[in-house]
Amino acid sequence: MDFDLIVRGGTLPDGRIADIGISGETITAIEPNLQGSARTEVDASGNLVSPPFIDPHFHMDATLSYGIPRINASGTLLEGIALWGELKPLLTHEAVRDRALAYCDWAVSMGLLAIRTHVDVCDDRLLAVEALLDVKKTIAPYIDLQLVAFPQDGFYRSPTARENTIRALDMGVDVVGGIPHFERTMADGTRSVTELCEIAAKRGLMVDLHCDETDDPLSRHIEQLAYETQRLGLQGKVAGSHLTSMHSMDNYYVSKLLPLIAEAGVSAIPNPLINIMLQGRHDSFPKRRGLTRVKEMQALGVRVGWGQDCVLDPWYSLGTADMLDVAFMGLHVAQMSSPADMARCFDMVTNVNAAIMGLDHLGLGVGKRASLVVLDASNPIEALRLRAERICVIARGKVVAERTRQDSRLSIPGRPAQVNRRHQAQ
Ligand code: FE2
Repeated sequence: MDFDLIVRGGTLPDGRIADIGISGETITAIEPNLQGSARTEVDASGNLVSPPFIDPHFHMDATLSYGIPRINASGTLLEGIALWGELKPLLTHEAVRDRALAYCDWAVSMGLLAIRTHVDVCDDRLLAVEALLDVKKTIAPYIDLQLVAFPQDGFYRSPTARENTIRALDMGVDVVGGIPHFERTMADGTRSVTELCEIAAKRGLMVDLHCDETDDPLSRHIEQLAYETQRLGLQGKVAGSHLTSMHSMDNYYVSKLLPLIAEAGVSAIPNPLINIMLQGRHDSFPKRRGLTRVKEMQALGVRVGWGQDCVLDPWYSLGTADMLDVAFMGLHVAQMSSPADMARCFDMVTNVNAAIMGLDHLGLGVGKRASLVVLDASNPIEALRLRAERICVIARGKVVAERTRQDSRLSIPGRPAQVNRRHQAQ
């Protein structure tokens, strides 16, 4: 046998039709009419073959806990944080692990093969850190899991958060997190950005801060984050998550801020499902959307990826681990309706998110890891329109999920009995 696995005849996101040869865990050939045989062949003719979906912002310690001990009545970020505070003392290692593993099963079925999760370090037991480090090992054969040490209750505001953040990093957590807008004062928020970036620089780690997740136009911690990134030489290793205040900022100030973010090489991770749900709750009408300035940052070369943030937890009562849902919402709220922008939305939940997380081994290319997804769509825009079925998911050279094409049957006189979803609108 020439290969272990060949995916035949799929359409790549750039429109090329090609066969993909896989040996072991690696893509070893991508070419039309690939010669050779394999133990397993996947027929992808007429289907989109994509790099895996990647989520750069999630909370796996909270997922699938919706309703425990109660639901979020106001729907605000702040009640969500308070509710999470009620849930934290009830957590056990087993419960966190089991819910996370159940979520990872959903993720695999959706072709979501790399996730960056924040993990709350404001519980002195650090049991969620231990549980998710266990989960990371368990799922390593099919999902890349990156952990962020996240002082949810404030790096300074919570008395042991600073010490616990360091402990979590010592235990093997990958990325430094923070929440400057939740510190007691703007000045404390600014100081926390500086100290967290210094910790990351000293340890050679990446930074991903929940930054300015508020409708307050004067919440400007992203400015400090860009400054510290430059000062400490962290270019390319820092992300600002949410940045929702930028939606409400003064336009003149933004015209100064965006070039500073671009110059510093700071990435942005808006989370459209959650931002549209949580922000604007204090507004009457007009009601703000609470999504950061996506197209405007992209126009200056800032790397912007869509994140999911929450599924069935104190902040969000829905969700399916489907990054196409995330991109679909982002596309609408950011009004990314041109063909180029729609295609970019698909790229954001695959290649751009890989770049933000530093996952150079993922992507459709010879020498890359053989992790990919076959979708029941003919191109990325159609995949978004349909939130297309994932027909086959391959992780590290092995088929890990399969689903049949979804057809709908009609019983209408004079109409065909069966209509494929993809062709209904054509
Ligand atoms: Fe978050």
